[in-house]
Amino acid sequence: MSIIADDNNFKNKKIEHNQNIKAETIEFDKNFENCIRPKSFDTYIGQSALKETLKITIEAAKKRELPLDHLLFYGPPGLGKTTLAGVIAEQMGVDIKITSAPALERPRDIIGILMSLKGGEILFIDEIHRLNKVAEEILYPAMEDFFLDMTTGKSQTVKTMRIPLPKFTLIGATTKAGELSGPLRDRFGIIHRLEFYTEDELAQVITRTAGILNIDIDSKGAHAIARRSRGTPRIANRLVKRVSDFALVKHDGKITENVANESLDILKIDEFGLDSTDRTLLKLIIDKYDGGPVGIETIAAAIGEDVRTIEDVCEPFLLQAGLLQRTPRGRKVSPETYRHLGYKSPQTIEQQNLF
Ligand code: ADE
Repeated sequence: MSIIADDNNFKNKKIEHNQNIKAETIEFDKNFENCIRPKSFDTYIGQSALKETLKITIEAAKKRELPLDHLLFYGPPGLGKTTLAGVIAEQMGVDIKITSAPALERPRDIIGILMSLKGGEILFIDEIHRLNKVAEEILYPAMEDFFLDMTTGKSQTVKTMRIPLPKFTLIGATTKAGELSGPLRDRFGIIHRLEFYTEDELAQVITRTAGILNIDIDSKGAHAIARRSRGTPRIANRLVKRVSDFALVKHDGKITENVANESLDILKIDEFGLDSTDRTLLKLIIDKYDGGPVGIETIAAAIGEDVRTIEDVCEPFLLQAGLLQRTPRGRKVSPETYRHLGYKSPQTIEQQNLF
């Protein structure tokens, strides 16, 4: 019993420690991301179909001299939802206020931000699926009729006031569109999904970032990093910095294909772009649960990560790469996962058992 308690204690400490590191990393990443963030559609790479639709929507809104309809962007993290919101604001020639749902915990947080908006401005709410019920209900009339419904007094003396707001555009971003309540989702005029990037698109992102940061890289070096970036510009941009450190210290500073591959091997990022957490997770399912299915909470406890990080950060790419499957009874791996991690595939094992 005490061993289990100690073990849990250790795991909690590990999660807490991981979260501290994450908080520092997030702060660093935000500054870094801001300095390399594209500001226009011309410099924003990828998502071409979405960009074309948005350009038309923006032009129409400008012709009508009206704010844009409320927009919802959904898709895995790191694909450029915040960046795109910034590009839209730039294109509309308006200011943007950026916040996230966990920062809007008390009614006065959302009321304060709504009342600070000026006509035509954009309010960007990240992780909008995490908005609480009260904040959502304040948002409904604000989105629909540009009013704040305020109540004062108690029970029999309760009074409602309608405070007009300037016409604004809400851009919501979420990694989990399915967790958005129906009424909130219905209030967005435009809903778009952001897609993973191709290797070519990521190589362009990497080359652009390297240019801004004065990093010397050739085309093959950019492609080598792109291949291991899990279809995600945020990861590509992080890796180009890490690889550039290696290039500087161990080589002549230039990122070539060999330098990129050698550094990424040392960083334990494999040819699929999987890092050690991904591999630990997949190997756990194979070694301890015979390939699955196994519940997400069990996986999280065993590898010392929290469920949300696994669901939001690790899983989207593993699912789309076909290395992980979600079933009603939990997560399971595919024969491809066995091959990729150097195991005999389950069919081979079965065949061997027949003889
Ligand atoms: N950095 C992050 N996302 C980007 C994108 N879509 N285009 C260019 N640079 C980026």
